[in-house]
Amino acid sequence: MPAISASVPGKIILFGEHAVVYGRPAIAVPVEQVRAKAIITPGIHQPSGSVLIQAPNIKIEALLSELPAENPLAATVRSVFDTLKISHPPALVIRISSTIPIAAGLGSGAAVTVAIIRALSDYLGRRLSNEQVSNLSYEIEKLHHGTPSGIDNTVTTFQKPVYFQRISDHQVIIEIISFPKPFTILIADTGVPSPTSITVGDVRRAWIERSDYYEGIFDNIAEVVQNARKAIESGSIEKLGELMNANHQLLRELDLSSQQIENLVQASQHAGALGAKLSGGGRGGNVIVLASELQATELSEILKSAGATRVIPTQVR
Ligand code: PMV
Repeated sequence: MPAISASVPGKIILFGEHAVVYGRPAIAVPVEQVRAKAIITPGIHQPSGSVLIQAPNIKIEALLSELPAENPLAATVRSVFDTLKISHPPALVIRISSTIPIAAGLGSGAAVTVAIIRALSDYLGRRLSNEQVSNLSYEIEKLHHGTPSGIDNTVTTFQKPVYFQRISDHQVIIEIISFPKPFTILIADTGVPSPTSITVGDVRRAWIERSDYYEGIFDNIAEVVQNARKAIESGSIEKLGELMNANHQLLRELDLSSQQIENLVQASQHAGALGAKLSGGGRGGNVIVLASELQATELSEILKSAGATRVIPTQVR
């Protein structure tokens, strides 16, 4: 049996993070420059039925049987076997690697999960549909942080820009968005890791205490998302930039910004960027900046001078 691999892009949320956990819409796009990869090979020197998981980036090399149920890699492999009703798998090696920074709002957890599900089901000759892949990885996302919206697993499974809204636990709206005009986004890393589980938990506690106030902000974010979709579909790049600034302001009101984020947002605004906002969980991770093609190189340097540890330019289309 030859090796089988799957490679899956990272993602950024353009609009609507956090509010999307509370049933509002959000827009996210794949980021092809950073990827997670899973390679499955036969375990020729292993006893039958044994599955070896190697993830050198996070220093894991262990048999599936030795890993606890809540380990997301092990849970992913077990969920594929359960879905395919495989009780005695062939001896396998699953090797996972990723260039997606962890805890930076680029969807590394979801991309690793989707890569394992795709490679393993293909290796076993039982390709799963996009919907099955996305649903399985949604269950694994719950291990990463208890109440995911599902947008990460959706965009990494479909690998297309999506408009996403969770209506209920079992019902989601997923619409692929088209960009008549491609535009350039700079993804600037604050260098501060910020686990999504913490910021999502903080927002939840604050929402429980002051739900009317928070529901009001989520509604305002939803309006920004709707207008952003219109701006994307009509190619109105200036309008899109204004909406990014408005979304950032609302995220600040949710207490999700930080000094490092503000340094990057303000530096890009002073340099004439069309818009800028934090992306993903917040308090660290990445800032996204909308730039004209002419501005992109100069703005990247300005962002680095303002503290960005790395800047990834990406064309959204
Ligand atoms: O930090 P990220 O990019 O994985 O994004 C989290 C997005 C949230 O809306 C904060 C949480 C979620 O599950 O949608």
